[in-house]
Amino acid sequence: MEPDDIRRVLVVGAGTMGQQIALQCAIHGLDVTLHDVDERALAAARSALDATIARVRAKEPVLAEHLAAGAARLACTADAAEAAADSDLVSESVPEDPELKGRVFAELDRLCPGRTLFTTNTSSLVPSMFAAATGRPDRFAALHFHQPVWSATVVDVMPHPGTSEATMEVLVRFAQRIGQTPIRLAKESPGYVFNAMYNALNREAITLAANGVASVEEVDKAWTTVTKMPLGPFGMLDVVGLDTVFYITDYWAKVTGDPQLTTNAAWLKAFVDAGRLGMKSGRGFYDYSAAHGE
Ligand SMILES: NC(=O)c1ccc[n+]([C@@H]2O[C@H](COP(=O)([O-])OP(=O)(O)OC[C@H]3O[C@@H](n4cnc5c(N)ncnc54)[C@H](O)[C@@H]3O)[C@@H](O)[C@H]2O)c1
Repeated sequence: MEPDDIRRVLVVGAGTMGQQIALQCAIHGLDVTLHDVDERALAAARSALDATIARVRAKEPVLAEHLAAGAARLACTADAAEAAADSDLVSESVPEDPELKGRVFAELDRLCPGRTLFTTNTSSLVPSMFAAATGRPDRFAALHFHQPVWSATVVDVMPHPGTSEATMEVLVRFAQRIGQTPIRLAKESPGYVFNAMYNALNREAITLAANGVASVEEVDKAWTTVTKMPLGPFGMLDVVGLDTVFYITDYWAKVTGDPQLTTNAAWLKAFVDAGRLGMKSGRGFYDYSAAHGE
């Protein structure tokens, strides 16, 4: 398959990442279907995209027009079968649970043609964990985006040991075609390139707060004052989504048995249990209720 043969993209999971990836593909002229099992998630994705476009419009009206045109062309469905049957590429963004991702890929393998390339947007897992479930390991790799997808334009293209060279070539060129900067990894490694560095920062920030050494606000103040960045680690984690941050921390706490990661996961869980999921729920470490229209 050549990159230009990719015309129809199926994005699975309409949460924080799926909605942005779908929009990025749509604004680059692809036919995109955004699929989620939850009708409410599809409706929420529409509202979230509208709200994002309104925010962008205040500062970058031309970009906002571009995004709005893409959003208008997005198809959304809770029934994947029809979209899957004619898809050239699948981008998966369901929650960070290896068992769930395996089930989703096995179902997609049943629904999609043999030619369809499968990609995962997993943050901290690795594609070899679900390569067998895809039924097409040679046509499967990680294609990992950063958010906001239209401005943090780095995409890790990471093979597992069974990914073919041809698949890597097509995915690298596909990433360029949708306005991204591909970072090609030579082999599988958890956390890819940017996130491997960024996760180390997050782990230390969460450890400082979870151990009661310094508050969320003090940690962020230290970071933003020295680096002159607009957000500190906790402000950035609110953008990621605290449920996602919890899943990742909890998963690695269980895999490694590291007691500090276990403490950090328990500390994060209190926020998740209280419905404080970050920007997407209106409150995380910080309060976004004004921006949420509450
Ligand atoms: N949030 C980030 O900044 C970020 C960045 C890069 C990669 N990722 C990765 O992207 C993936 C998704 O993360 P997110 O933050 O978008 O999660 P999210 O919780 O915001 O969205 C996940 C969506 O998947 C849907 N879903 C659950 N089961 C499904 C199924 N069987 N079929 C279809 N849809 C299903 C849910 O209804 C939900 O809408 C994770 O693997 C995460 O690690 C996240």
